[in-house]
Amino acid sequence: MTVAKAGPRMTKERILVADDEQNARVALRTILSEEGYEVAEAADGEEALALLPGFAPAAVLADVRMPRMDGITLLKRAREQGSDAVFVMMTAFASVEAAVEAMRAGAENYLVKPLDVDAVLVVLEKALEKLRLQRDTQNLRERVRERYRFHNIVGDAPELQAVYEVVKRAAPTRATVLILGESGTGKELIAQALHEESPRRDKPFVKVNCAALSETLLESELFGHEKGAFTGAIGRKEGRFELADGGTLFLDEIGDISPSTQIKLLRVLQQKEFERVGGTSTLKVDVRMVAATNRDLAAEVKGGKFREDLYYRLNVVAVTLPPLRSRKGDIPALVSHFIEKYCKAYGKELRGLAPGTLNALLAHDWPGNVRELENVVERAVVLAKGAELGADDLPPSLRGPRPRERAPGALIPGATLYEIEREAILRTLEMVGGSTSRAAEILGISVRKIQYRLKEYAAGGDERSARTPEDPDEGGDPKDGD
Ligand SMILES: Nc1ncnc2c1ncn2[C@@H]1O[C@H](COP(=O)(O)OP(=O)(O)OP(=O)(O)O)[C@@H](O)[C@H]1O
Ligand SMILES: [Mg+2]
Repeated sequence: MTVAKAGPRMTKERILVADDEQNARVALRTILSEEGYEVAEAADGEEALALLPGFAPAAVLADVRMPRMDGITLLKRAREQGSDAVFVMMTAFASVEAAVEAMRAGAENYLVKPLDVDAVLVVLEKALEKLRLQRDTQNLRERVRERYRFHNIVGDAPELQAVYEVVKRAAPTRATVLILGESGTGKELIAQALHEESPRRDKPFVKVNCAALSETLLESELFGHEKGAFTGAIGRKEGRFELADGGTLFLDEIGDISPSTQIKLLRVLQQKEFERVGGTSTLKVDVRMVAATNRDLAAEVKGGKFREDLYYRLNVVAVTLPPLRSRKGDIPALVSHFIEKYCKAYGKELRGLAPGTLNALLAHDWPGNVRELENVVERAVVLAKGAELGADDLPPSLRGPRPRERAPGALIPGATLYEIEREAILRTLEMVGGSTSRAAEILGISVRKIQYRLKEYAAGGDERSARTPEDPDEGGDPKDGD
């Protein structure tokens, strides 16, 4: 077997050399041009800054000390202009302190003069590699974001898109919205999105967790209290209804409130007025109410635990969030979203998922829904030792071998076309960090087909399901994923 040497660079990156010493400039230009880079020269910082927008270099090799504008000021100005070029600073022996300052200002690296040709090339190539990676991830993230985002909510399963639609239509009104769904499906995110989409977005979004407080405390929390209304009511207190005036009040876990609080809520909903606990004067507020529960509220009404009249008042518009297990096609996008989030939080850099990891994530049933997935990814990011999240980083309950799983990699020949396709889809998704749109682009198939297949794999799909008429690309549905 022969190992191919990397061929000539296809796209030559542009390098700007800024140095007041003409000899140094000429030497650098010669070396870099020979390597295939496109080079421009500037005799000082100001000249370099003027060249930046037009030349748009990938890297700037800048001397720290230059007349008119020094290298560090150049770097700062370049950033202000929005240039993402990587900076490598050059400094004389005497001023290593300046190099340290340059690094602090955001230079990628520095070189000490007199320059060593090999060192220049190695340092530059390393810096460029970092920039390429940054630009790639940036592009990828932007594309993923565009496709999947509704506010902070990731996922474009049809059931979710229907929820987004209802939220958009209900947002401009005052209608009370009831959000249903299992624990961890994103009910709070939807409540926030509704507020953000509404004309009340600049007014407060106030949240009350109705399950966390005793009856007395909940009422005082909601309606406020007067001094001495009950033991411990030392001073007068404004309630959440008052705090939310003009905005949105989110009543979380509404299924947990007592019958007496239910009556009081009903009155606010009907008359938009209430009294503070222990108070006599009636207060009026303009509040949009959103409620959420993971209970089956209709059943609670039937069972006599929840007032029917209140139920209908809350349930003017209802949305139900689907459990994660019924929209596994969103798992890759969610995983990539949480990897990004926790890499930032923990200062880590990860490329994405190692082969086999996505398989394990798709196989799990996710009783805790997105919250559980988020926890799994956070834990994995913390534990990850390599550049990718591996199956070893998952909790033991997710690591178990799948009954249908084969040895790593479908063999060609030796596997069915379906198995080879599966391998291709999963590997590509892992490579692009879970973006179905990017994977679809690479594989030359539709996003819908990928999502359809993911659902199949999640359900332990095999050849038989591959021939079902619902197969989107064979079924002839002209409406493609994007
Ligand atoms: N579609 C989603 N995209 C991104 N993050 C999500 C999504 N759904 C849920 N999350 C995240 O999962 C966690 C749980 O979501 P949230 O608190 O909204 O769930 P919930 O339905 O209110 O659950 P519970 O009934 O237990 O209160 C949060 O950290 C949230 O940011
Ligand atoms: Mg919640």
